[in-house]
Amino acid sequence: MRKKIVAGNWKMNLEYAEGIALFSEIVNMVKDEKKGDQLAIVCAPYIHLNSLAQLGGTTVAIGAQNCHQKESGAYTGEISAKMIKSVGCEYVIIGHSERRQYFAESDELLAEKTIIALQNGLTPLFCIGETLDERNNGSYFDVLKGQLEKGVFGLTAGDFSKIVIAYEPVWAIGTGLTATSEQAQEVHAFIRNEIATKYDLEVAEATTILYGGSCNPKNAAELFAQKDIDGGLIGGASLKSRDFVDIVKTFNS
Ligand code: PGA
Repeated sequence: MRKKIVAGNWKMNLEYAEGIALFSEIVNMVKDEKKGDQLAIVCAPYIHLNSLAQLGGTTVAIGAQNCHQKESGAYTGEISAKMIKSVGCEYVIIGHSERRQYFAESDELLAEKTIIALQNGLTPLFCIGETLDERNNGSYFDVLKGQLEKGVFGLTAGDFSKIVIAYEPVWAIGTGLTATSEQAQEVHAFIRNEIATKYDLEVAEATTILYGGSCNPKNAAELFAQKDIDGGLIGGASLKSRDFVDIVKTFNS
């Protein structure tokens, strides 16, 4: 049985006190309202992580949104996977399209980040996704395959089975344009098939693959009902406790 996950990605939003307040609401609501065994994660800015990890307890897990690719050293301003782990975080987003686009993070760099995260006991939520041009010109399967091959297919089967994949079409992120459930399912099935080809069917069947991109309480149920969609990575809607918890609860309905 694959793990079902709803992960919020706060991006660069919320001052410290705002983050604590939102997270406290989320924890209380999830505690009272969640019925299934799906996992809720909040990926917050670095400055929130320590406090959130203590508030979250066993109810909501915590993730970072990035980490540096080296263990430690003279990298002014950077945060290592070991430091993230040391405050009680369990997850880290790697390869979000905003990191790829605005910080020029290459597939090779993301492969390094994935390895260092795993070495430090963090579970990478590894993001892949095509741009609108790549969707329209029909090259998206090649693009996604390339991102998988260079980013995570260098891992051993044992390490690969510890990661989570998130499919986030770039054209659907923050745009209000959600992939249809058919479009998302088509890609998720493709990803699972690529994993089966690279590793084996057992590894592929056990891999949690999340959908991200304008996912909200209205469209989550239909998306999550798809055979190969195991949850979501939620941006905008994770900044409102009611919306985020309603998405978490979608698995119960
Ligand atoms: P969105 O962002 O839900 O606001 O589209 C998703 C993401 O970037 O992870």
